[in-house]
Amino acid sequence: MNPLPWWKTAVFYQIYPRSFADSNADGIGDFPGITAKLDYLQSLGIDALWLSPHFPSPNWDCGYDISGYTEVAPEYGTLDDFKTFLQEAHARNLKVILDLVLNHTSDEHPWFLESKQSRNNPKADWYVWADTPPNNWQSCFDGDAWTYAPERGQYYYHYFMKQQPDLNWENPQVKQAMWDAVRFWLDLGVDGYRLDAIGTIYEDPALTPHNVPLNLAGLRRFSEDAKTPAQKKRAEKYWYDMFCHQWASPKLHPLMKELRAILDEYEGDRMLVGEDDNIDYMGNGADELHLVFNFPLMKLERITPALVRKNQKERLARLNALPTPGWACNTLGNHDRSRIYTCYGDGLHNAELARLNAALLLTLPGTPFLYNGEEIGMSDYLITDPALLRDTMATWYYQQMTEELGIPPQEAAQRAAEMTRDKNRTPMQWNSTANGGFSPAKVQTWLPVNPNYAEGVNVREQQDQPESMLNYYKRLLHTRKQSPALQTGEYKTLHPQAQEYLAFLRHTPTQTVLVLLNYSPNRQQIGFRLPGKKTARPLFSSAGRGSQEQPLGKIHLGAFEALIAELH
Ligand code: GLC
Repeated sequence: MNPLPWWKTAVFYQIYPRSFADSNADGIGDFPGITAKLDYLQSLGIDALWLSPHFPSPNWDCGYDISGYTEVAPEYGTLDDFKTFLQEAHARNLKVILDLVLNHTSDEHPWFLESKQSRNNPKADWYVWADTPPNNWQSCFDGDAWTYAPERGQYYYHYFMKQQPDLNWENPQVKQAMWDAVRFWLDLGVDGYRLDAIGTIYEDPALTPHNVPLNLAGLRRFSEDAKTPAQKKRAEKYWYDMFCHQWASPKLHPLMKELRAILDEYEGDRMLVGEDDNIDYMGNGADELHLVFNFPLMKLERITPALVRKNQKERLARLNALPTPGWACNTLGNHDRSRIYTCYGDGLHNAELARLNAALLLTLPGTPFLYNGEEIGMSDYLITDPALLRDTMATWYYQQMTEELGIPPQEAAQRAAEMTRDKNRTPMQWNSTANGGFSPAKVQTWLPVNPNYAEGVNVREQQDQPESMLNYYKRLLHTRKQSPALQTGEYKTLHPQAQEYLAFLRHTPTQTVLVLLNYSPNRQQIGFRLPGKKTARPLFSSAGRGSQEQPLGKIHLGAFEALIAELH
């Protein structure tokens, strides 16, 4: 029997429902579409799914502006379609976690519609209201954080878009209503939640103004133009200073404890993963969140052996220092981030680097999260026609650039294409037919399909090619599943000075695995002296080497090779 909770050994796969599979030819993904792909997901070798929001939403923030917490968005299907999906996923031993957006609702949520009507309705105090904007706080998406509601003659606060008013979490009724929604899905059998933007739930009660001499659009432009290390540092400081009064309140700890206690009432190790990198939100290691993401790794501009070692050293030391040691959780991509294939590429070896980074993600200690499409090497697709953008923060920025910042339309369109999250949310590419098989031919998909579906970046073609990215991911996932050391073993850095390659061990009492990742176009000859170990038997190699044992004192590593070997 496996003594560990399932989420410690699972590999998660994030599905962005709008872009996964369209079953009814409306250009939008849906539950029947996802259900039809469950065999694919099972054969890929992942263990759990995280669904980005599937709730009704006016889609100002692509589903993260929710107008009904216990319903299914009509374009994704019905509650019965959801139940079928869940049942079919569980039948294939795939766990399912949902996205839980606590900080804000949609401005079309009935709670907000009621709240904004008057100053004395039953939900008057469910959101954060003020007579006049009490400070210069910005929304991180669209300028001023305070927006006027004429019905009530007051301003409401929103950390994100003005269509995403912040809930007032000081109000116990808000908490109760949200906990009811949490239980609704848990009662249906979901296995946990990914907690959206938890850091933003509470604000500084003193409403301290920020001291950055720019507004949001100005700061965006400042960051894009920052080229020198000093400028980049300044931009980073500005981002921090602009928002530091609007997030990370200590009040979150009791709230997370309360939520954790709800999950713990249920059987089956229901779990919470926070969209935050702060290990403090794991409480004592057993009373707040089960996992927080290692975003510092994901946010590296370039993945280098030295930076990975530093990241692991810091994160693991902090996790291990908790009274009940915390479990790591790594990811390199999600719906908010430039795709792995694009952002860590060097323009010459993007495919090789994407493979290395996949091997990194699936061998580092902790629970890995993959993002749909990375397994076939999907890359960012720049949408340079502003009319086709669906990520409204980019539409807003385009407008600011052209109307306020005096940037010529063509340049503004290019900047918007690069900053928008649409570029990494384009439809999943299933085959080489029109629309990449996401929707039937001639259907206008909600975002354009990346035309590289016709150049081999699609599931169907890669299934038949033994050396494809897809089969590479499958082999990696299989290797991980077969290896107790890769799933749960201790991590030990080797050759801590190596600049071109990363070398580390994962070991349990029964198995020692060596991971070698050559981040360089140069071949390496590497030797190790490890007590009691003489040979390395390859379990996995990106260079297609067989399982023939190598002497540990002399291992050759090809350019950009990933090698995983069991030591004897
Ligand atoms: C999270 C989501 C992001 C969304 C934001 C507001 O960061 O990942 O997509 O826009 O929260 O809900």
